[in-house]
Amino acid sequence: MKSTTVNHVASTETLKTIFERRAVRKYLPDIISDDILEKIIDAGRMAPSAMNGQPWRFYIVTHKDTIALFSREIAKITSKVVLKAAIKHPIKAIKALLHFSPGSIGLEGEDPIFHGAPVVIFITAPKDDEWAGLDIGMCAQNIMLAAKSLGLDSCPIGFAKYIEQTPVLHKLEVPRGEEVQLAIILGYGDEKPEQHPRLKNNAIFIDRMECC
Ligand SMILES: Cc1cc2nc3c(=O)[nH]c(=O)nc-3n(C[C@H](O)[C@H](O)[C@H](O)COP(=O)(O)O)c2cc1C
Repeated sequence: MKSTTVNHVASTETLKTIFERRAVRKYLPDIISDDILEKIIDAGRMAPSAMNGQPWRFYIVTHKDTIALFSREIAKITSKVVLKAAIKHPIKAIKALLHFSPGSIGLEGEDPIFHGAPVVIFITAPKDDEWAGLDIGMCAQNIMLAAKSLGLDSCPIGFAKYIEQTPVLHKLEVPRGEEVQLAIILGYGDEKPEQHPRLKNNAIFIDRMECC
């Protein structure tokens, strides 16, 4: 088999955005204009979805006190979930903790879940939608890449789904038939995290045609 070289230097704007996006967990307090926010959400709406179902709904939270309240309540549930998982799979838990930079995942402080971001977008989908997880993942990636291309940073927050188990869920005004799949935090980043190395042994070519 011929060896191939992978060009790490992103050569188009889209690739540049993909390669430069990072999970950012430290933000400046600067507010994001409605114009920019609308553009970013529109990018989410442009994601492909199974049978064009467009199952996403966006619940956008920008009030600092509301974000802090949600964050504290979600952190309470998250610590229980994390503890349970750590008892069951201790090595996995240690690996996960080592992955986060110090201070970025202490489940305490004013905003332990949303890392001080000025915008949190909760994304929901109907409860019984077989493809929702995939659709929401694609939608979320569009949002994060659009944000990056507009000079903003972001981070997907899986823990956000635990808002379902908190007493403050009603404040999000999500109807009963929907569930929170994920949240995306957005803002002007106040850190530049290093790129995590990517595994390269996970592409398996079957009956590969020789090309060049
Ligand atoms: C589905 C999903 C859930 C995630 N949940 C969280 C989270 O709750 N909190 C957090 O700080 N980062 C979360 N992340 C961010 C990942 O930790 C991050 O994307 C990963 O470490 C790779 O880093 P990079 O995005 O900078 O390449 C999540 C990412 C994904 C895709």
